[in-house]
Amino acid sequence: MKLSVFGEKFTRESGIVGLMDDLGTALVDNPDMIMMGGGNPGRLPEAEAIFQQRLEAVMADPEKRHRLFGLYQSPRGDQEFRNEIAVFLKKQFGWKLTANNVAISNGSQSAFFVLLNMFAGEMPDGSRQSIHLPLTPEYLGYADSGLSEEFFTATRPEIELLEEHLFKYHVDFSRLELGRRPGALCVSRPTNPTGNVLTDEEVAHLDEIARQRDIPLILDGAYGLPFPNIMFTEATPHWNENTILVLSLSKLGLPGVRTGIIVAREEIIHAYANANGIVNLACGNIGPAIATELFRSGEILTLTQDHVTPFYKQRAHNTVNAFRKALGDLPYHIHKPEGAFFLWLWFEGLPISSQELYERLKKRGVLIVPGHHCFFGLEEDWPHRHQCIRVSYVQDEEQVQQGVEVIADEVRKAY
Ligand SMILES: Cc1ncc(COP(=O)(O)O)c(C=O)c1O
Repeated sequence: MKLSVFGEKFTRESGIVGLMDDLGTALVDNPDMIMMGGGNPGRLPEAEAIFQQRLEAVMADPEKRHRLFGLYQSPRGDQEFRNEIAVFLKKQFGWKLTANNVAISNGSQSAFFVLLNMFAGEMPDGSRQSIHLPLTPEYLGYADSGLSEEFFTATRPEIELLEEHLFKYHVDFSRLELGRRPGALCVSRPTNPTGNVLTDEEVAHLDEIARQRDIPLILDGAYGLPFPNIMFTEATPHWNENTILVLSLSKLGLPGVRTGIIVAREEIIHAYANANGIVNLACGNIGPAIATELFRSGEILTLTQDHVTPFYKQRAHNTVNAFRKALGDLPYHIHKPEGAFFLWLWFEGLPISSQELYERLKKRGVLIVPGHHCFFGLEEDWPHRHQCIRVSYVQDEEQVQQGVEVIADEVRKAY
């Protein structure tokens, strides 16, 4: 088949697609595989019960059921849901929002596709703009989303070594070089893959830089505040007219309903909705149907504070301890787990690449994500990028424990 430039770029196996495929096939080849690679949230019975109740209430009401199955919403998404989100965020954080500042997407991944390509790529005057990642490593799901090549630039972080084998990345403002034509800054907070949470000062500084350049700051809150609140550290949520905050219902336990939420100034929401209409026509109704009432009643807050946050906090704590025990005196560092649900391990001076470690672990029935995928946009050849892995700790605790032991054993062999 003869493919267009778009066709070639978007159908080749690369980055996230290759990895996701590999994760899928690995499970077929070995059903006992310990899955520490993917981004599925953990199973929380309390959350599942609430979602079930909400859905049953909708199903029991013929009008609501019709709204759920029988109607297209506008490309901006369900008006009632957008309104509840705006009221909720305004009440929580004092942000000046109305429903016109909110749009819905079919998962935040598709929102990123539209938003990133709105601000980077070929410009009307023939010049090119890119998305700058002020701190790499970043979410590998962005990596292949550009309609054109050389879509991202990135700044290598500063590393702060902490006690007890922990470390933390910081935005290195002394190196921050936005490239010739930045179209937007983009960061996930908490960060996938590292579990880092950018400090309030870092966010304020990035906000200032973005304003000076007259470009938006895109903040990906897939794991953040106010929901799903998978955060183990104090941080102030950030939004203003120059910020595009992207939220998601996925990590609450609803990745299957595919609901993302964009919070931005009206002009951006309007532009996004036009593009969303072309790509998606409308968004799915199930996420809004389940969640509207949770926002209206404020139940979303108790759900996160009482169940979601403690579950992941405990898991992070246990997994760090398991790694400390298993890795002993090996030259390892674990990124301080401040949020999200991964541990990011850095094996300093590792004699094999993270890709090789991934292959060896797969053979032994443990799936992780090799870290080099997450350094897209960074031009310099930094050995660090081949010395890190991402490990999810949401699966069954016994399996996670086994996985930790296998990882430690393979790493020990490699040194
Ligand atoms: C940082 C980050 N952003 C966005 C997404 C996309 O999530 P969804 O499309 O399910 O909302 C993910 C999924 O893993 C993620 O980790």
